[in-house]
Amino acid sequence: MAARRIQTVILAILAVAIAGGVAWWQIRRMPESAPTAGANLALGGPFSLTEHSGRAVTDADYRGRFLLIYFGYTFCPDVCPTELQVMAQVMDRLGSEGERIQPAFVSVDPERDTVPHMAAYVAQFHPRLIGLTGTPEQVAAVARAYRVFYRKSAGSDPAYYTMDHSSFFYLVNPDGSFATVFRGGTSPDDMAQAIRSRLSARG
Ligand code: NI
Repeated sequence: MAARRIQTVILAILAVAIAGGVAWWQIRRMPESAPTAGANLALGGPFSLTEHSGRAVTDADYRGRFLLIYFGYTFCPDVCPTELQVMAQVMDRLGSEGERIQPAFVSVDPERDTVPHMAAYVAQFHPRLIGLTGTPEQVAAVARAYRVFYRKSAGSDPAYYTMDHSSFFYLVNPDGSFATVFRGGTSPDDMAQAIRSRLSARG
């Protein structure tokens, strides 16, 4: 009987370990595998950053609106400008419905992305787009909350370095909870349509 009990305990431990391993694997895999179906993932959370206007803000300042967030850096040669144009097109397609959305560009290069630099940059894309930057610690914290990967590219010139970073759009609900994620490369039409259906679902 004792042997059977030990066997049961071992099986139970194994089951928990496997379930835990699967959950961890799914979370690790998320950025590569989820185009829009991240609603069951706990992403996002509190942050403290500085808007391109110079105003110190937290996530709580955006309650009541959907946040559409893209992480990148202003010196990005191609991906960020392309995706911020997509974001601007999404806002244009949403028209007046888009007033419930606050599009935001969060820097992962606080060293170079100063507040004035962010102000000049976001103005090139859309009048409603805000730029958010901060101390290296603040940026690291918000990137961690959204599981954004970023680092200085290995071997790039220290004076003119580039950054490697993940490319996703994050939609946050008006109550601050995470809504969904869109993979970089999503078309403006697809993203606008998906956002529109969420807007109508939330009245
Ligand atoms: Ni970029």
